[in-house]
Amino acid sequence: FRTIFEPFRIHSVEPLRMSTRAERRGYLRDAAFNLFQVRAEHVLVDLLTDSGTGAMSRDQWAAIQHGDESYAGSPSYYIFTDAVRELFPFEHVIPVHQGRAAEKILFSVIGGPGKVVPNNTHFDTTRANVEATGALAIDLPVVEGRDLSSQHPFKGNMDLAALEDLLARRAADVPCVFVTITNNSGGGQPVSLANLRGVRGICDRYGKPLFLDACRFAENAWFIREREEGQAEREVADIVRDMAALADGMTMSAKKDPMGNIGGWLAMNDDDLATACRNTLILTEGFPTYGGLAGRDLEALAQGLTEVVQHDYLRYRIRSTAYLGTALQERGIPVLSPFGGHAVYIDARALARHLDPLEYPGQAVAVALYETGGIRSCEIGTVMFGRQPDGTEAPASMDLVRLAIPRRTYTQSHIDYVIEVCEEVAANADALRGYRIVAEPKTLRHFTSSFEPR
Ligand code: F0G
Repeated sequence: FRTIFEPFRIHSVEPLRMSTRAERRGYLRDAAFNLFQVRAEHVLVDLLTDSGTGAMSRDQWAAIQHGDESYAGSPSYYIFTDAVRELFPFEHVIPVHQGRAAEKILFSVIGGPGKVVPNNTHFDTTRANVEATGALAIDLPVVEGRDLSSQHPFKGNMDLAALEDLLARRAADVPCVFVTITNNSGGGQPVSLANLRGVRGICDRYGKPLFLDACRFAENAWFIREREEGQAEREVADIVRDMAALADGMTMSAKKDPMGNIGGWLAMNDDDLATACRNTLILTEGFPTYGGLAGRDLEALAQGLTEVVQHDYLRYRIRSTAYLGTALQERGIPVLSPFGGHAVYIDARALARHLDPLEYPGQAVAVALYETGGIRSCEIGTVMFGRQPDGTEAPASMDLVRLAIPRRTYTQSHIDYVIEVCEEVAANADALRGYRIVAEPKTLRHFTSSFEPR
């Protein structure tokens, strides 16, 4: 059948309050045209992020009732670590409250001035946590990953030659190699098993540990099953275990594929590294058997991990993202392709050609989507990346608007509505006004800057 079957039905509902365009204009002014400053109840379809915004299942809510809130040695911790190790059999599993806490702890132990951390592409918090220690974060994606029109099946792959070159020159400065699956900042694009094996081989030659930033591991494994030779008949859980077996550890935001509203973990095989990380954890997150989470959160994640590797779910998930992407493409809206797992990215620079990157075409499109239809998206472009460390401003490499799809949350009708709104915004794209920033903080300016239309 052609219809995408949602492999669940609705069990409890959250009302959405309709709003008018005139009301939304007011909300935008109140928010200084920054969508992070808009109240969520003033949003109709919230595609700001897929992080922590998914719907939990009946069985996850049941697991929450089973949570044990003992300070030390809670049974919920053991249920959680067993579920993690079923897919990622690392020696040590350290819970944290979300992904960036795992990054902060790991890099505060292995980073520092003079160090260099390569990654296919750092997510912004990962980069910030590497740089906060004085280390250098280097992105080494394959060239196809930077090419908006390349149809390469694994645009998330790491450039193996570039990694080899970096290690040949600076091996002593590299504490570990990172691979982000899927590559979020590169458009939610997957990494192949063959590429991971290649990275592993290079790491072995230089004696370096390989870590995964594995937020969207199940989506990545599904793409491997669909696109990589010899993988089509395999269980996704087995593909995940193959990815894990190639690595020495991982950082994780459990707000993505593990279906949590909060949570994360840090895992590794190295005993000494684990001891150092646990000691830091106690300072900042909590005791190592809860790591900043409630026992009930740990149980919800354990259950979520069993659900996300189910093929019916992943087939629905990846097809529904492609449904949105295909519909936009068919309407002539420029989008990044192939489509990623968790989001569709509109090429705002191509859509609003009359705007200079420093007039923030991504911001213009994102604001128009909100004003036109109450859709909240996220600018990933010059607003997010334009401010340089020396204080000057330069265009980002791309000006994208990300439509991130929360897991199991919106129906196909909601997505059809999103498609209609995008169509209307695209039809009037020539008339979009650019924006200027009237106030901005020193770092991560996209969250709190104030804007004004030009
Ligand atoms: N790594 C990747 C690849 C991510 O996408 C994120 C978060 C993190 C690390 C940090 O995890 O938010 O739990 O601290 N990405 C979200 C997003 C925020 O919208 O893409 P966190």
